[in-house]
Amino acid sequence: MDWGMKNRMAQLFAEDGHCMFLPIDHGYFQGPTRKLEKPGETVAPLMPYADALFVTRGVLRAAIDPAKSLPVILRVSGGTSVIGADLANEEITTSIEEVIRLNAQAVGVSVFVGTDYERQSLMNLAKMVNACEDYGIPVMAVTAVGKELEKRDARYLALASRIAAELGARVVKTYWCEDFEKVAGGCPVPVIMAGGPKVEDRGVLSFVHDGMSRGAKGINLGRNIWQHEFPLAMIKALRAIVHGKAGVDAAWEIFEAEKAHSKVKSSPKKSRKRAS
Ligand code: 5RP
Repeated sequence: MDWGMKNRMAQLFAEDGHCMFLPIDHGYFQGPTRKLEKPGETVAPLMPYADALFVTRGVLRAAIDPAKSLPVILRVSGGTSVIGADLANEEITTSIEEVIRLNAQAVGVSVFVGTDYERQSLMNLAKMVNACEDYGIPVMAVTAVGKELEKRDARYLALASRIAAELGARVVKTYWCEDFEKVAGGCPVPVIMAGGPKVEDRGVLSFVHDGMSRGAKGINLGRNIWQHEFPLAMIKALRAIVHGKAGVDAAWEIFEAEKAHSKVKSSPKKSRKRAS
């Protein structure tokens, strides 16, 4: 691995080999997602607890201060919408020149294994790997399931993750599932977990802890953090698991303590009596 590639990977993965990516790319196919209407405001308080942002070029330019940004993983596949015919029918949206111009540390491409657009999306990945490897830029593959959330089992996710790695992805983002060691163990590059739709609070901590203990190298969790009523409590608790080796009980204590603290901070102050 050349110096540039190693350096970019080191900006994404901490010395413990783990990572906390904060994805805010959801609008690229679902429009103004709840709590991402003003993405810059949503992520500002969370950024000190994340290692990188996963974001499109549009939101990056419009909402993220270049002087205060985390390392950026640029989403470079898209072209579909939730109301269109097929979410899997993606193409590459962003040139390698634009990736370099925006000083992205990595790019993210979705693959839709098992769909009508399997070949097209896998070739999107392969072509982006060809372009990015010339410049030492890692490509993160996203094993997308579209609307078919039931696809998230170990057999499918292991298949999709391995294929993505074989095509040259340096990181694979997939979903947590039962028997996650079959997914992580069958993939020669770091595998990280996305969150999906909202899960109850302790459930998020549990699946992240389970995945990490079965070989995941980190998380790329969005909605379960920034759509939470107490996003700071959730991200701090998750960081304790990912980077602090915390168990679920210890992370839960951090979550409850930060939640209580946030409640005190946000409670309306009693109006002071005027001095007579
Ligand atoms: C959207 C994505 C997201 O980055 C990914 O799904 C993680 O976000 P969440 O935890 O909200 O699922 O790739 O296409």
